[in-house]
Amino acid sequence: MPTRRQFLAAVAATAASAAAASALDACGVPTGPSFAIVGPPQVKIPLMAVGQTVGVDNVGEGGVGMAVTRVSATSVVAVSRMCTHQACTIGLPGSPGGAMQCPCHGSLFTVQGGVVQGPAFAPLRTFTATIDSANNQVVITNA
Ligand code: FES
Repeated sequence: MPTRRQFLAAVAATAASAAAASALDACGVPTGPSFAIVGPPQVKIPLMAVGQTVGVDNVGEGGVGMAVTRVSATSVVAVSRMCTHQACTIGLPGSPGGAMQCPCHGSLFTVQGGVVQGPAFAPLRTFTATIDSANNQVVITNA
């Protein structure tokens, strides 16, 4: 039977292990700080031209906004503009299909949220986005 000291040491080790694990995602990649989602649960914006990216302000992670891109006639993507490195707000692409750059340390992301260049190594958070053709809108789930 363990002594009281051994029992407390085992409890402390388990708690430290659990705390360390919570800072990693399912793939073992460290996660950045998490921010609450700001804004209404559903956001609607006018449908843009194929290749165009539009910024939506005051929604998403910490209210920093989203970048919404129409990647084809029938498909749109919405990503957070919060950099996964140290949470700066990422710029919109300079041209259709261009990368989005973080002004703080230069990370580059695709409009789908993938990392092109570090120091960030985790992709941007994505949001569900669909085209509502009947109303010529993009509908984004802000959750
Ligand atoms: S905060 Fe974006 S690259 Fe550092």
